[in-house]
Amino acid sequence: MNKIVLYYSRTGNSKRVAEKISEGLGVEIIPIVDENKYKGVFGFLRAGFNAARWKKVKYNVDLEEKINDDTHVYFVSPVWASHSASAVYSFLMDNDIKTKSIVFTNSASSPGKAYYAMEEKFGNFQNKYCITKSKNNEDEIIKLILKEGSN
Ligand SMILES: Cc1cc2nc3c(=O)[nH]c(=O)nc-3n(C[C@H](O)[C@H](O)[C@H](O)COP(=O)(O)O)c2cc1C
Repeated sequence: MNKIVLYYSRTGNSKRVAEKISEGLGVEIIPIVDENKYKGVFGFLRAGFNAARWKKVKYNVDLEEKINDDTHVYFVSPVWASHSASAVYSFLMDNDIKTKSIVFTNSASSPGKAYYAMEEKFGNFQNKYCITKSKNNEDEIIKLILKEGSN
């Protein structure tokens, strides 16, 4: 099965993580770009408000048929109000991805609610990971992702 990394990042954490996974697994990485930039306090509030309600957003992704039923997609996304970022769930609303894993980055909360929300909406994610700033677990989780991804 071939693999690909798709990510959204507002402030760079998920981008850094996505790059490490792409490099470690030797697979392509593609950003999902939200047309909204969510700048400043109002941007932050709008991002959380949208995500909590699964509000669909406009996004751009340069995929050109790189995904088929034999592709395992790693989605890397910040947690936004116990959901993924809006660009990531909006992409999943438009594309039925059979084999997928989610890699969240977040600041402090437990990812359980976000895992539950995403699986209830989009079905099974083969692997679920969360890199949490307050736990300082980035190196440990990246190592696990690369180990499980190279099996
Ligand atoms: C709108 C919004 C909602 C967020 N909600 C949560 C949350 O529920 N739990 C949490 O631990 N962090 C939350 N965060 C923090 C981000 O998940 C965290 O900073 C993440 O690593 C940012 O990734 P990025 O740099 O790729 O944008 C939120 C951030 C934003 C902007």
